Amino acid sequence: MDTLEGPALGLIFPSQPFEGRVIDEDFSLEYEAARRVGFEVGLYSLEEKRLLTPAVSGSALYRGWMMTADEYGAFYDRLHSRGTCLLTSPEQYRFCHHLADWYETLVEETPKSVIFKGPNFDWERLTEAFPSGPLILKDYVKSCKHYWEEACFIGDLDFAKVSRVTERFLELRGEFLEGGLVFRECLSLLPIGVHPQSNLPLTLEYRVFVFKGKILGVGDYWPQGEYGSHQRPPESWLQTVIEKIGSPFFALDVALDTDGRWWVIEVGDGQVSGLNDAFGAEDFYRRLAVALR
Ligand SMILES: Nc1ncnc2c1ncn2[C@@H]1O[C@H](COP(=O)(O)OP(=O)(O)O)[C@@H](O)[C@H]1O
Ligand SMILES: [Mg+2]
Repeated sequence: MDTLEGPALGLIFPSQPFEGRVIDEDFSLEYEAARRVGFEVGLYSLEEKRLLTPAVSGSALYRGWMMTADEYGAFYDRLHSRGTCLLTSPEQYRFCHHLADWYETLVEETPKSVIFKGPNFDWERLTEAFPSGPLILKDYVKSCKHYWEEACFIGDLDFAKVSRVTERFLELRGEFLEGGLVFRECLSLLPIGVHPQSNLPLTLEYRVFVFKGKILGVGDYWPQGEYGSHQRPPESWLQTVIEKIGSPFFALDVALDTDGRWWVIEVGDGQVSGLNDAFGAEDFYRRLAVALR
């Protein structure tokens, strides 16, 4: 079995909300797997804003719930003052977390987007960039994809429709809206089914985890999708994207369109991107251990 020889890297996980020194149940499989593989593990209380276990000494990564870019900055500083140095700086976190930050860097590989800071859009600027639809709407971090028809997809580009979808999107995101509004050209991605709960059209999309420039793994994005023997993203194309991103640990969500072109749909910080059922926890941490060597 591949295990680490020393505590070369620590891993910080969230504790169960308001339950003291136990692992958050949503991350218990990962926590146990990381420990079995030989990582030093620590617990952090997101409510109390402090480490609950003796500090992990030296370098560490976090695996847990998403934080806003500002929250991550404060989290980073708190850990740093306890001698735990997260590999991902607050600037690197923000870069991968916020579409507005990575968009220009990947402008050739990702759907054309118009970005507005805050909750309002400028109709003139929007229609100058996009004379017609369809578009999709999200904020700097998340969409409301499971409310596809009412709060994500915009078919015809008329003012009333855009206003209606935006209003519903803002209502659903509420206080969690991050950054502002992003309108993106809606591509014709290769369909592989329909989400059984929300009727969201599923498309051929993969999640790729990258650590220190190396691909840790490529997994199916949709557990409910019919991937069959469809092609997977070419490694050479992935490498050209990876080289542009200066973060030690990130995830890329990539999808294939019906003309056979690959696109980056999203970049995410690797610490807060879900394993999506595609990566077994133990397999994932073992790959991370190998990549550290
Ligand atoms: N530009 C686009 N063209 C077509 N479909 C898209 C586009 N952007 C997103 N989607 C679809 O919507 C889903 C959610 O968008 P995404 O940007 O990944 O937001 P979230 O952070 O909510 O997952 C994607 O998985 C994809 O199926
Ligand atoms: Mg996504």
